[in-house]
Amino acid sequence: MKKACVIGWPIAHSRSPLIHNYWLKKYGIDSVYEKKAVEPESVAQFIVNLASSEFIGCNVTIPHKGAAFRAIAKTDEIARRLGAVNTVYLKGGVVCGTNTDGEGFIASLQYAHPSFDLKNITAIVIGAGGAAKAIIGALLDEGVEKIGIINRTRERIHDLQVQFGSGVYETSEANSDTALKSCGLLVNTTSQGMEGQPSLELEIQSLNPDALVADIVYTPLETAFLAKARQQGNPVLGGLGMLLHQAVRGFELWFGVRPEVTAELYELIASGVQKAHKQ
Ligand code: ATR
Repeated sequence: MKKACVIGWPIAHSRSPLIHNYWLKKYGIDSVYEKKAVEPESVAQFIVNLASSEFIGCNVTIPHKGAAFRAIAKTDEIARRLGAVNTVYLKGGVVCGTNTDGEGFIASLQYAHPSFDLKNITAIVIGAGGAAKAIIGALLDEGVEKIGIINRTRERIHDLQVQFGSGVYETSEANSDTALKSCGLLVNTTSQGMEGQPSLELEIQSLNPDALVADIVYTPLETAFLAKARQQGNPVLGGLGMLLHQAVRGFELWFGVRPEVTAELYELIASGVQKAHKQ
């Protein structure tokens, strides 16, 4: 039996098994998707030996995405751009790596807001870490014209400018009003607003009323930041959709079926998040 798994350290809270095992059952595939706790010093070995293991592929989560990238000889352009791999698969017995975080964000946005047009808009991204990089790259690929970055550590914005060019620039939080007026999309890619983390305090009264406000945080399902945006009339996008949509390509690569993200799957995972939230 071909098995797949998610590796991380720790891994107990991963919701990927719920997603993939739901699809395995739905499509009648005789397999199982497991959680596997892999210590940082064992990541490279786990991946290099994948072809001779019980697994045909895996997802990679925090904190192993960079280590997985460095261990894999055959990565694609998207993984190389990010220096991070979240999906590992075998092709002709060779271990290959890609990264589906950016496409997961775009697919989630298009699923929830099908008529929203990214072409030639200006976006503002809060954060400059790995998630920001994945989303910025994907937005530029989709035709977003300019992306202002708000981040606590300014040097990281500079690194993104070097990588992505003049379409990416710094937006200062203190002077963000003008930028917010003209932006079409505002995305939080930081952990601010996540359970147990400080909330995101950005003022958004001056935000263009048509701007879509997105958050990649999904615990809680709606952050205080998104609730504020929704209450002032802006369209919003929570983070759970990105988690579901980033899983699609891995499943397809391992099992040969492109799985569908449905309202039923969303409800299944959302109810698990809500239950954990109440505990
Ligand atoms: P990931 O790969 O998940 O994006 P990361 O690379 O650690 O994680 O990046 C986290 C991002 O959240 C960074 O932009 C970080 O800001 P810094 O670059 O200044 O570190 C941002 N972030 C996390 N916690 C924050 C907080 N309490 N206040 C402001 N920014 C925060």
